[in-house]
Amino acid sequence: MITMKAVRIHDFGGPEVLSLDAVPLPQPHDDEVTLKVYAASVNPVDYKVREGSSGADLPVTLGRDVSGVVELCGTRAHTLKKGDPLYAMLGNDRGGNAEYVVVKATEAAAKPQRLSHAEAAAVPLAGLTAWQGLFDHGGLKSGQRVLIHGGAGGVGHLAVQFAKAAGAFVATTVSAQDFDFVRALGADQAVDYKNQRFEEVVEDVDLVFDLVAGETQDRSWDVLKPGGTLVSTLSEPSAEKARLHRARGVSYLTKPNAAQLAEISRLIDAGKVRPFVQAIYPLEEVARAEEQLEKQHTRGKIVLQVAA
Ligand SMILES: NC(=O)c1ccc[n+]([C@@H]2O[C@H](COP(=O)([O-])OP(=O)(O)OC[C@H]3O[C@@H](n4cnc5c(N)ncnc54)[C@H](OP(=O)(O)O)[C@@H]3O)[C@@H](O)[C@H]2O)c1
Repeated sequence: MITMKAVRIHDFGGPEVLSLDAVPLPQPHDDEVTLKVYAASVNPVDYKVREGSSGADLPVTLGRDVSGVVELCGTRAHTLKKGDPLYAMLGNDRGGNAEYVVVKATEAAAKPQRLSHAEAAAVPLAGLTAWQGLFDHGGLKSGQRVLIHGGAGGVGHLAVQFAKAAGAFVATTVSAQDFDFVRALGADQAVDYKNQRFEEVVEDVDLVFDLVAGETQDRSWDVLKPGGTLVSTLSEPSAEKARLHRARGVSYLTKPNAAQLAEISRLIDAGKVRPFVQAIYPLEEVARAEEQLEKQHTRGKIVLQVAA
């Protein structure tokens, strides 16, 4: 049996439960391909699953983002061939913190040509979260005003760029140290969330994109226009407060989407969007990568290099 290395957990817990295991090389079926993974990235969902929030069946391989090249093709994967560079957000039935992973046709798009594998791996989950939150659930249009909470993080820094590319006015809450960073991404207004109440300086927005929840979400109703929308990646907005403010509240789970990922590739290759990678760790140091994401201030994304 041919084996490969994969980062799995056999128990829920802290970074110490991450285990580099030898597992069978996965085989593709139908229109699937097996990708040789060059890079993966870490997302908050990885440490949340590791800590047991989803109650996943164990053992489980972590990691939802990959960038790599096609190694094996399923019998109906006619449009792809060995060596094609792809990037993908995986469904939650597989993990990308591994040397190889099976990718479905509905999850993958051509890797943006301008990006290295490490940069490309930073994009899929965070990018699709930003895209689906702003456009599918938030209905953001050119000329509208959006407030993005957490604009310097993995999802936020891509959301700022997508909203700007779509022609919106972009306000965002960040730490003061990230002011220059989000301004360079195109934000029109940056608010230091630790020292200023955003509702005192931001008003009349069509959309609040909430990546923070809690009291940040509660205070956000005040900045919305009547008829505006509050979209959260974290908690269901109160229906009562939505009614009171004549607004709409939505929460959602991001889904893999090959067509949207292809659209994101086009924006990247047109030079309108670029992911920011703060740190790259080898796969073996996944525990450090997850700890950094969970405990320390992260700007943009943290990536795992799997192959050179
Ligand atoms: N529903 C879904 O399917 C889905 C998908 C993706 C992500 N999510 C969730 O969405 C959240 C964001 O994800 P991410 O990948 O962007 O996380 P991340 O990379 O860890 O970024 C979080 C950002 O939030 C900022 N922040 C923290 N408290 C804040 C506050 N009170 N006001 C404004 N900004 C604040 C942090 O800035 P500082 O470090 O300066 O505090 C950091 O830049 C996570 O909780 C994640 O689990 C959900």
